[in-house]
Amino acid sequence: MRKNIVAGNWKMNTTLQEGVALAKGVNEALQNVTANCDVIIGVPFTHLASINGVIDSSKLGLAAENCADQKSGAYTGEVSASMVASTGATYVILGHSERRQYYGETAEILKTKVNLALANNLTPIFCIGEVLEERENGTYFDVVKAQIEESLFELSAEDFGKIVLAYEPVWAIGTGKTATADQAEEIHAFIRGVLATKYGEEVANNTSILYGGSCKPSNAAELFAKPNVDGGLIGGAALDVESFMGIVTAF
Ligand code: 13P
Repeated sequence: MRKNIVAGNWKMNTTLQEGVALAKGVNEALQNVTANCDVIIGVPFTHLASINGVIDSSKLGLAAENCADQKSGAYTGEVSASMVASTGATYVILGHSERRQYYGETAEILKTKVNLALANNLTPIFCIGEVLEERENGTYFDVVKAQIEESLFELSAEDFGKIVLAYEPVWAIGTGKTATADQAEEIHAFIRGVLATKYGEEVANNTSILYGGSCKPSNAAELFAKPNVDGGLIGGAALDVESFMGIVTAF
């Protein structure tokens, strides 16, 4: 059966020293609670190796926030999936709306990144989600379906089984405007149906689908209570140990 997961996405926040302290804080807090979910932190590339050295990997997973769409070579400034894996990270967030919007990441580029991540034994946390206009004009089902189909549906069922999905409506990211639990459940159930049609019920039922977008301790429990919401991808609230743990313990 699918896992419940709470994953932090720190984005471009914290210096190395601040990030190590935050990771230590989360790691320490996890020693004192029984989390009913897997817990992951997604951190900047520069922090990965140091943070890997201070966390208990049996309690806290480590993710990069991106990886390159090339294996290696003359791509100045890029960080490959194999480099990410060599730090000890085992997850990589791919297709975040900020990457799509500000860095021109297309479905095709993301397909390549997913393949490279899988080839390096990294678990992709693959983000999908519509913008406000698409929510309001009712095309969000088609938008989300296309994002999944275009980047992931060439995977074998076995490889698809390694993917974690994160539904993040762009209008809810960093805006304080959370999707309601019913809105999240509606689209998560739809997504699971799309997966079932392509890969069958078993794969669909085993896929974790996280919700992201202004998820906080005050709304996490209601979101996570929905049958098709398997956890959260957390931005702002992941930058503080207490608020992140407030979400972790919402399960
Ligand atoms: P916020 O939780 O800050 O809205 O960010 C969500 C997000 O983008 C996580 O990837």
